[in-house]
Amino acid sequence: MTVRIVPLTVTEIESTQSALVSVYRAVFTEPPYSEDEADVQDFAARFPDHVQRPGFRCCVAQQDERIVGFAYGFTGEPGDGWWDRVADRLTDDEVETWLDDCFAFAELAVIPTARGQGIGGRLHDALLSGLPHRTAVLSTFTDETPAMRLYRKRGWVTLLDDFVFPGGSHPCVVMGKVFNGLNKRNECPETPNYSPPSYNPSATRRWSNSRA
Ligand SMILES: CC(C)(COP(=O)(O)OP(=O)(O)OC[C@H]1O[C@@H](n2cnc3c(N)ncnc32)[C@H](O)[C@@H]1OP(=O)(O)O)[C@@H](O)C(=O)NCCC(=O)NCCS
Repeated sequence: MTVRIVPLTVTEIESTQSALVSVYRAVFTEPPYSEDEADVQDFAARFPDHVQRPGFRCCVAQQDERIVGFAYGFTGEPGDGWWDRVADRLTDDEVETWLDDCFAFAELAVIPTARGQGIGGRLHDALLSGLPHRTAVLSTFTDETPAMRLYRKRGWVTLLDDFVFPGGSHPCVVMGKVFNGLNKRNECPETPNYSPPSYNPSATRRWSNSRA
């Protein structure tokens, strides 16, 4: 079956959110993440907040009309809980190198039945293609997961090891990727002017709990 990697437009984001939550549930309630329904609902609550961030961009994998995977991120900035916590653990030089002009890669997910066909790699590549930032950063479990192998194969390097975010318990690595000015194609344009649906801000965890 043909799978298309599609950047979401402003109007598509709102109507697609429930499909993204379904993908999230199918992916992250499985080991090693083993999240529960409350975690899934936290994702549903923080996604509209992420959509409003500067530089937000999201790509989905569509098989026929069904969404089988997605990836998204936004510009990383001081004041964001994740950015601040990572910056606290880096030297000033490392912050300048890795965080001062970075794309925060927040999530990457492909449903179990669609894996092993190159979809995750294509989502990763489309999301990062043409970004104006100098670097991209993410956090992921320290385990030897398929995601970890995907990132290493695509040039991500470890910036911090054994990092446990407040409120989390699983050790994570923080990884970075330098674009070196080679990232000029623009296949997945930024999604501007998104007006998110209402949600409960107190349920928003931001992306301190994002793995990607
Ligand atoms: C990570 C994930 C998105 C990969 O999706 P996918 O569609 O299966 O990935 P691809 O088929 O494009 O494979 C890309 C690379 O991932 C790695 N990979 C994928 N499946 C793998 C497996 N079962 N074992 C080892 N490596 C694997 C390989 O490096 C592969 O590259 P290769 O085919 O050149 O060897 C998917 O496994 C997933 O959703 N995992 C759970 C969610 C997750 O961990 N997200 C990231 C959180 S930080």
